Amino acid sequence: MIVELPALKSKDFLSILDLNPEALEQALELAAVFKSERVKGRPHAHVLEGQHVALLFEKPSLRTHSAFTIAVRELGGDVIEPASDVAFSGRESASDVARNLERWVPIVVVRTFEQARLERFAVSSSRMRVINALTDEEHPCQALADMQALIERWGSVKGRTMTYVGDGNNVAASLAQASVMLGMHVRLATPEGFELNAGLAESVTRVVRFGATFTQGHDPVAAVKGADAVYTDAWASMGQEADAERRAGIFRPFQVNAALMVAAGKDALFMHCLPAHRGLEVTDEVIDSPASIVFDQSENRLHTQKALLAMMSAR
Ligand code: CP
Repeated sequence: MIVELPALKSKDFLSILDLNPEALEQALELAAVFKSERVKGRPHAHVLEGQHVALLFEKPSLRTHSAFTIAVRELGGDVIEPASDVAFSGRESASDVARNLERWVPIVVVRTFEQARLERFAVSSSRMRVINALTDEEHPCQALADMQALIERWGSVKGRTMTYVGDGNNVAASLAQASVMLGMHVRLATPEGFELNAGLAESVTRVVRFGATFTQGHDPVAAVKGADAVYTDAWASMGQEADAERRAGIFRPFQVNAALMVAAGKDALFMHCLPAHRGLEVTDEVIDSPASIVFDQSENRLHTQKALLAMMSAR
Protein backbone atom coordinates (compact mmCIF):
# COMPACT_ATOMS: atom_id res chain seq x y z
CA MET A 1 0.00 0.00 0.00
CA ILE A 2 1.41 3.41 -0.99
CA VAL A 3 0.15 6.50 0.80
CA GLU A 4 1.59 9.96 1.17
CA LEU A 5 2.42 10.31 4.86
CA PRO A 6 2.08 13.77 6.30
CA ALA A 7 4.43 14.34 9.22
CA LEU A 8 3.26 15.72 12.55
CA LYS A 9 4.76 19.01 13.66
CA SER A 10 5.05 18.31 17.39
CA LYS A 11 7.32 15.54 18.65
CA ASP A 12 4.60 14.10 20.86
CA PHE A 13 0.85 13.54 20.80
CA LEU A 14 -0.13 14.25 24.38
CA SER A 15 -3.23 16.24 23.56
CA ILE A 16 -5.50 17.10 20.64
CA LEU A 17 -3.88 20.52 21.06
CA ASP A 18 -0.63 19.03 19.76
CA LEU A 19 -2.30 18.87 16.35
CA ASN A 20 -2.94 21.96 14.32
CA PRO A 21 -6.27 21.79 12.47
CA GLU A 22 -4.59 20.70 9.23
CA ALA A 23 -2.80 17.82 10.99
CA LEU A 24 -6.08 16.75 12.61
CA GLU A 25 -7.80 16.68 9.23
CA GLN A 26 -4.85 14.82 7.65
CA ALA A 27 -4.90 12.20 10.41
CA LEU A 28 -8.61 11.60 9.80
CA GLU A 29 -8.12 11.39 6.04
CA LEU A 30 -5.29 8.90 6.47
CA ALA A 31 -7.39 6.86 8.90
CA ALA A 32 -10.12 6.64 6.25
CA VAL A 33 -7.56 5.36 3.73
CA PHE A 34 -6.30 2.74 6.20
CA LYS A 35 -9.87 1.65 6.93
CA SER A 36 -10.77 1.30 3.28
CA GLU A 37 -7.54 -0.59 2.49
CA ARG A 38 -8.20 -2.97 5.36
CA VAL A 39 -11.75 -3.64 4.13
CA LYS A 40 -10.20 -4.55 0.76
CA GLY A 41 -7.92 -7.08 2.49
CA ARG A 42 -4.85 -4.83 2.39
CA PRO A 43 -4.19 -4.04 6.05
CA HIS A 44 -0.42 -3.79 5.76
CA ALA A 45 1.82 -0.78 5.34
CA HIS A 46 5.52 -0.87 6.11
CA VAL A 47 6.34 2.39 7.81
CA LEU A 48 7.41 0.67 11.06
CA GLU A 49 9.24 -2.19 9.36
CA GLY A 50 11.89 -3.61 11.68
CA GLN A 51 10.98 -1.25 14.54
CA HIS A 52 9.40 -1.70 17.94
CA VAL A 53 6.91 0.51 19.73
CA ALA A 54 6.74 0.42 23.55
CA LEU A 55 3.33 0.15 25.23
CA LEU A 56 3.37 1.36 28.85
CA PHE A 57 -0.06 0.93 30.43
CA GLU A 58 -0.59 1.74 34.11
CA LYS A 59 -4.36 1.22 33.84
CA PRO A 60 -6.49 -1.50 32.20
CA SER A 61 -7.43 -1.23 28.54
CA LEU A 62 -9.22 -3.31 25.94
CA ARG A 63 -9.65 -0.95 22.99
CA THR A 64 -6.59 1.29 23.18
CA HIS A 65 -4.13 -1.50 23.89
CA SER A 66 -5.55 -3.95 21.34
CA ALA A 67 -5.82 -1.30 18.62
CA PHE A 68 -2.25 -0.08 19.13
CA THR A 69 -0.91 -3.64 19.10
CA ILE A 70 -2.68 -4.46 15.84
CA ALA A 71 -1.80 -1.07 14.34
CA VAL A 72 1.93 -1.46 15.04
CA ARG A 73 1.95 -4.98 13.61
CA GLU A 74 -0.01 -3.99 10.50
CA LEU A 75 2.51 -1.20 9.98
CA GLY A 76 5.28 -3.80 9.91
CA GLY A 77 6.59 -3.33 13.45
CA ASP A 78 6.23 -5.09 16.79
CA VAL A 79 5.50 -4.04 20.36
CA ILE A 80 7.36 -4.36 23.63
CA GLU A 81 5.38 -4.13 26.86
CA PRO A 82 7.49 -3.33 29.90
CA ALA A 83 5.45 -4.12 33.02
CA SER A 84 3.85 -1.07 34.63
CA ASP A 85 5.62 -1.85 37.90
CA VAL A 86 8.97 -1.25 36.26
CA ALA A 87 8.05 1.85 34.29
CA PHE A 88 6.38 4.25 36.72
CA SER A 89 6.69 2.54 40.08
CA GLY A 90 9.63 4.59 41.34
CA ARG A 91 12.02 1.70 40.72
CA GLU A 92 13.91 4.31 38.74
CA SER A 93 12.98 7.81 37.67
CA ALA A 94 10.53 8.20 34.80
CA SER A 95 13.19 10.27 33.10
CA ASP A 96 15.67 7.40 33.24
CA VAL A 97 13.00 5.04 31.89
CA ALA A 98 12.53 7.37 28.92
CA ARG A 99 16.29 7.66 28.36
CA ASN A 100 16.55 3.87 28.23
CA LEU A 101 13.57 3.37 25.96
CA GLU A 102 14.74 5.98 23.45
CA ARG A 103 17.77 3.78 22.73
CA TRP A 104 15.45 1.02 21.51
CA VAL A 105 12.19 2.43 20.22
CA PRO A 106 11.12 5.49 18.19
CA ILE A 107 7.64 5.71 19.76
CA VAL A 108 6.15 4.95 23.18
CA VAL A 109 2.43 4.77 23.95
CA VAL A 110 1.59 5.63 27.57
CA ARG A 111 -1.55 5.25 29.67
CA THR A 112 -1.00 6.83 33.07
CA PHE A 113 -2.52 9.09 35.72
CA GLU A 114 -1.66 12.81 35.71
CA GLN A 115 -1.11 14.64 32.41
CA ALA A 116 1.80 16.47 34.06
CA ARG A 117 3.51 13.15 34.71
CA LEU A 118 3.19 12.23 31.03
CA GLU A 119 4.54 15.63 30.03
CA ARG A 120 7.57 15.20 32.30
CA PHE A 121 8.19 11.77 30.78
CA ALA A 122 7.92 13.15 27.24
CA VAL A 123 10.42 15.98 27.73
CA SER A 124 12.97 13.51 29.10
CA SER A 125 13.68 12.34 25.55
CA SER A 126 14.31 14.68 22.66
CA ARG A 127 13.85 12.03 20.02
CA MET A 128 11.42 9.37 21.25
CA ARG A 129 7.86 10.32 20.35
CA VAL A 130 5.24 9.87 23.07
CA ILE A 131 1.54 9.16 22.55
CA ASN A 132 -1.07 9.77 25.24
CA ALA A 133 -3.16 6.60 25.53
CA LEU A 134 -5.25 8.25 28.31
CA THR A 135 -4.43 10.36 31.32
CA ASP A 136 -6.72 11.62 34.05
CA GLU A 137 -7.16 14.86 32.10
CA GLU A 138 -7.18 13.95 28.39
CA HIS A 139 -7.90 11.06 26.01
CA PRO A 140 -6.91 12.37 22.57
CA CYS A 141 -6.75 8.98 20.80
CA GLN A 142 -10.42 8.45 21.66
CA ALA A 143 -11.36 11.81 20.17
CA LEU A 144 -9.68 10.94 16.86
CA ALA A 145 -11.79 7.79 16.54
CA ASP A 146 -14.92 9.72 17.53
CA MET A 147 -14.34 12.30 14.81
CA GLN A 148 -13.80 9.59 12.20
CA ALA A 149 -17.08 7.91 13.20
CA LEU A 150 -18.98 11.18 12.82
CA ILE A 151 -17.40 12.08 9.48
CA GLU A 152 -18.40 8.63 8.21
CA ARG A 153 -22.02 9.39 9.14
CA TRP A 154 -22.28 13.01 8.13
CA GLY A 155 -19.51 13.70 5.60
CA SER A 156 -18.57 16.89 7.42
CA VAL A 157 -19.05 17.71 11.09
CA LYS A 158 -18.95 21.47 10.54
CA GLY A 159 -22.01 23.21 12.00
CA ARG A 160 -23.26 20.06 13.75
CA THR A 161 -23.99 19.98 17.49
CA MET A 162 -22.41 17.54 19.92
CA THR A 163 -23.89 17.27 23.42
CA TYR A 164 -21.87 15.48 26.07
CA VAL A 165 -23.88 14.46 29.14
CA GLY A 166 -22.26 13.33 32.38
CA ASP A 167 -18.84 13.81 33.94
CA GLY A 168 -16.57 16.55 32.60
CA ASN A 169 -13.69 14.12 32.39
CA ASN A 170 -10.73 13.29 30.12
CA VAL A 171 -12.97 12.00 27.31
CA ALA A 172 -15.13 15.13 27.44
CA ALA A 173 -12.07 17.38 27.29
CA SER A 174 -10.50 15.79 24.22
CA LEU A 175 -13.88 15.39 22.52
CA ALA A 176 -14.62 19.09 23.00
CA GLN A 177 -11.18 20.16 21.73
CA ALA A 178 -11.39 18.04 18.57
CA SER A 179 -15.04 18.91 17.91
CA VAL A 180 -14.65 22.69 18.01
CA MET A 181 -11.44 22.47 15.99
CA LEU A 182 -13.49 20.86 13.22
CA GLY A 183 -16.27 23.43 13.55
CA MET A 184 -18.79 21.56 15.71
CA HIS A 185 -20.85 23.23 18.43
CA VAL A 186 -20.25 21.54 21.78
CA ARG A 187 -22.57 21.57 24.79
CA LEU A 188 -21.57 19.91 28.04
CA ALA A 189 -24.24 19.03 30.60
CA THR A 190 -22.72 17.97 33.92
CA PRO A 191 -23.80 18.03 37.55
CA GLU A 192 -22.56 21.15 39.35
CA GLY A 193 -18.95 20.68 40.35
CA PHE A 194 -18.24 18.18 37.56
CA GLU A 195 -17.64 20.64 34.70
CA LEU A 196 -14.42 20.75 32.68
CA ASN A 197 -11.92 22.62 34.83
CA ALA A 198 -11.15 26.21 33.91
CA GLY A 199 -7.85 25.39 32.21
CA LEU A 200 -9.34 22.72 29.98
CA ALA A 201 -12.41 24.84 29.21
CA GLU A 202 -10.12 27.69 28.15
CA SER A 203 -8.11 25.28 25.99
CA VAL A 204 -11.31 24.37 24.12
CA THR A 205 -12.27 27.98 23.42
CA ARG A 206 -8.74 28.67 22.13
CA VAL A 207 -9.07 26.18 19.24
CA VAL A 208 -12.60 27.01 18.08
CA ARG A 209 -12.93 27.33 14.28
CA PHE A 210 -15.67 28.05 11.74
CA GLY A 211 -17.89 29.82 14.30
CA ALA A 212 -18.19 26.79 16.57
CA THR A 213 -19.38 27.39 20.12
CA PHE A 214 -18.66 25.76 23.48
CA THR A 215 -21.03 25.93 26.44
CA GLN A 216 -21.28 24.21 29.80
CA GLY A 217 -24.48 23.82 31.83
CA HIS A 218 -26.35 21.53 34.21
CA ASP A 219 -29.60 20.70 32.42
CA PRO A 220 -29.27 17.55 30.28
CA VAL A 221 -32.71 17.92 28.66
CA ALA A 222 -32.02 21.49 27.52
CA ALA A 223 -28.52 20.56 26.37
CA VAL A 224 -29.60 17.68 24.12
CA LYS A 225 -32.42 19.62 22.40
CA GLY A 226 -31.64 19.63 18.67
CA ALA A 227 -28.28 17.88 19.15
CA ASP A 228 -26.92 15.81 16.28
CA ALA A 229 -25.04 13.52 18.67
CA VAL A 230 -25.40 12.69 22.36
CA TYR A 231 -22.25 11.37 24.04
CA THR A 232 -21.74 9.97 27.53
CA ASP A 233 -19.07 8.17 29.54
CA ALA A 234 -18.70 6.40 32.87
CA TRP A 235 -19.74 8.34 35.95
CA ALA A 236 -16.72 6.99 37.84
CA SER A 237 -13.53 6.92 35.79
CA MET A 238 -10.58 4.61 36.43
CA GLY A 239 -9.27 5.36 39.90
CA GLN A 240 -12.66 6.65 41.18
CA GLU A 241 -14.23 3.21 41.72
CA ALA A 242 -14.37 3.59 45.52
CA ASP A 243 -16.57 6.66 45.06
CA ALA A 244 -18.83 5.02 42.46
CA GLU A 245 -21.93 4.69 44.65
CA ARG A 246 -21.92 8.32 45.78
CA ARG A 247 -21.31 9.49 42.23
CA ALA A 248 -24.15 7.31 40.89
CA GLY A 249 -26.55 9.23 43.14
CA ILE A 250 -25.31 12.57 41.85
CA PHE A 251 -25.27 11.57 38.19
CA ARG A 252 -28.59 9.68 38.05
CA PRO A 253 -30.48 12.61 36.39
CA PHE A 254 -27.79 12.58 33.68
CA GLN A 255 -28.49 9.04 32.47
CA VAL A 256 -28.83 8.78 28.68
CA ASN A 257 -32.08 6.87 28.31
CA ALA A 258 -34.84 6.69 25.72
CA ALA A 259 -36.56 9.80 27.08
CA LEU A 260 -33.37 11.86 26.76
CA MET A 261 -32.80 10.62 23.21
CA VAL A 262 -36.39 11.62 22.35
CA ALA A 263 -35.63 15.07 23.75
CA ALA A 264 -32.58 15.22 21.46
CA GLY A 265 -34.54 14.43 18.31
CA LYS A 266 -35.13 11.45 16.04
CA ASP A 267 -31.87 11.74 14.05
CA ALA A 268 -29.50 12.14 17.00
CA LEU A 269 -26.67 9.61 17.21
CA PHE A 270 -25.62 8.02 20.48
CA MET A 271 -21.91 7.80 21.34
CA HIS A 272 -19.85 6.30 24.16
CA CYS A 273 -16.11 5.64 24.38
CA LEU A 274 -16.70 2.31 26.21
CA PRO A 275 -16.53 0.45 28.50
CA ALA A 276 -20.20 1.20 29.19
CA HIS A 277 -21.96 0.67 32.50
CA ARG A 278 -25.35 -0.42 31.26
CA GLY A 279 -28.16 0.77 33.49
CA LEU A 280 -26.04 3.62 34.86
CA GLU A 281 -24.86 6.28 32.39
CA VAL A 282 -26.74 4.59 29.52
CA THR A 283 -29.61 2.15 29.19
CA ASP A 284 -29.52 -1.02 27.08
CA GLU A 285 -32.31 0.42 24.99
CA VAL A 286 -30.14 3.34 23.88
CA ILE A 287 -26.76 1.69 23.48
CA ASP A 288 -28.27 -1.17 21.48
CA SER A 289 -30.47 1.10 19.35
CA PRO A 290 -29.89 1.93 15.67
CA ALA A 291 -28.81 5.42 16.80
CA SER A 292 -25.80 3.98 18.59
CA ILE A 293 -22.41 4.16 16.84
CA VAL A 294 -20.33 2.96 19.78
CA PHE A 295 -18.78 0.02 17.92
CA ASP A 296 -17.88 2.24 14.96
CA GLN A 297 -16.05 4.45 17.46
CA SER A 298 -14.33 1.36 18.84
CA GLU A 299 -13.35 0.03 15.42
CA ASN A 300 -11.97 3.40 14.44
CA ARG A 301 -9.55 3.33 17.35
CA LEU A 302 -7.52 1.02 15.12
CA HIS A 303 -7.61 3.13 11.97
CA THR A 304 -6.94 6.46 13.68
CA GLN A 305 -4.13 5.08 15.86
CA LYS A 306 -2.60 3.52 12.77
CA ALA A 307 -2.75 6.92 11.06
CA LEU A 308 -1.18 8.58 14.07
CA LEU A 309 1.67 6.06 14.20
CA ALA A 310 2.26 6.40 10.48
CA MET A 311 2.37 10.18 10.72
CA MET A 312 4.75 9.99 13.66
CA SER A 313 7.00 7.65 11.69
CA ALA A 314 7.14 9.91 8.62
CA ARG A 315 10.40 11.80 8.29
N1 CP B 1 -12.26 3.83 25.34
C1 CP B 1 -11.10 3.28 25.79
O1 CP B 1 -10.06 3.96 25.92
O2 CP B 1 -11.18 1.94 26.02
P1 CP B 1 -10.10 1.12 26.83
O3 CP B 1 -10.02 1.68 28.22
O4 CP B 1 -10.57 -0.30 26.78
O5 CP B 1 -8.76 1.28 26.13
